Amino acid sequence: MKCIDTLSEKELKGKRVLLRSDFNVPLNAQGEVANSFRVQRGWATVRYLSERGARVIAVSHLGRSEESLAPVARALKRFGPIVFVPDIVGAVAQDASHAMKDGEIALLENLRQDPRETENDEGFARELASLAEIYVDDAFAAAHRAHASVVGVPKFLPHYAGLLMRDEIETLKEARKPASPSFAILGGAKFETKAPLIKSLLANYSNLFITGALANDVFKAEGYEVGVSLISKELPDAEILKNPRFVAPVDVTVERPDKQARVKKQTEVLSDEKIVDIGPDSVAAIAPMITGAKYILWNGPTGLYEAGYNAYSHAIADLIAKAVEKGAKCVIGGGDTIAAIQGGGVREEQLGFLSTGGGAMLEYLLKGTLPGIDALQ
Ligand code: 3PG
Repeated sequence: MKCIDTLSEKELKGKRVLLRSDFNVPLNAQGEVANSFRVQRGWATVRYLSERGARVIAVSHLGRSEESLAPVARALKRFGPIVFVPDIVGAVAQDASHAMKDGEIALLENLRQDPRETENDEGFARELASLAEIYVDDAFAAAHRAHASVVGVPKFLPHYAGLLMRDEIETLKEARKPASPSFAILGGAKFETKAPLIKSLLANYSNLFITGALANDVFKAEGYEVGVSLISKELPDAEILKNPRFVAPVDVTVERPDKQARVKKQTEVLSDEKIVDIGPDSVAAIAPMITGAKYILWNGPTGLYEAGYNAYSHAIADLIAKAVEKGAKCVIGGGDTIAAIQGGGVREEQLGFLSTGGGAMLEYLLKGTLPGIDALQ
């Protein structure tokens, strides 16, 4: 896989570059970008290409199909001049791409507005490829999707990884075989989809802390009451629960039917209560494992941060910042995790590498490659 920085300025100047970015970002009630982390991280490659005289035709998906990328174009304008073209492969996009001047940047409409994108339709990939002379994939967060713009277009154009794609792969390669002692934190839901990764992390990390809704599955598997908490279809088996490297929360925050929250032991949850976060004793229990680690991996907040339960995710971020200050390496991923720790007082640059990947990060950690990476080989 070659990165775009292996091309000279001469090779980029005047070239139309189709740049597959991942600008799949949350929108707020007003329809504007609610969190510009991915937009900001994606801008580095846009700028790199534009500064070298390439004509940058950026493409991305957003949501499932109907959404427009117009708000993303507005968010990108904060970083530099960009023109939004409300078309994907039609005459408007063709004309716009051929009328661009050196260094100009255009953003096309949401790829998923054309159903052929997710169908990985070869004709659609050809039409996208016809817009440009070079293809650059910077969309690490979408590299687990075998869609036309990810795996189809590179068949028809000279193809390169963008700067973000390269950094993500280099960082996560190391996360698969971390220096010891290492500490992994895995949250989120749907135990059945995460079981293989949990087993792989138990094999490769000194300790694995399970949190978020996955911890509810652990409590249930251990026979405790979990009230009205979110539970997965499958529960952890004895191989996981009895692994000496496996660490589960020792207390939880529950929300009562009257919306009052309280902290209690995980063994004391009542049938009408909902587990919404871990508690302070859990943070205290894992604190030495975090501050003593040489490598930390974190994907998935500890609690329902969107409902305001982010205090313990913030506490973990504080501990990680201390470990990073002492020289530990850390990679944190998943949009939810990053959203949960934002506003907690620790600056992003104190936390090591923040991955733009959610599902892509988890799949890469398990398999060591992704369809979008294979397509660039
Ligand atoms: C993500 O947000 O994880 C990526 O953009 C992939 O989005 P998708 O799950 O809608 O394919």
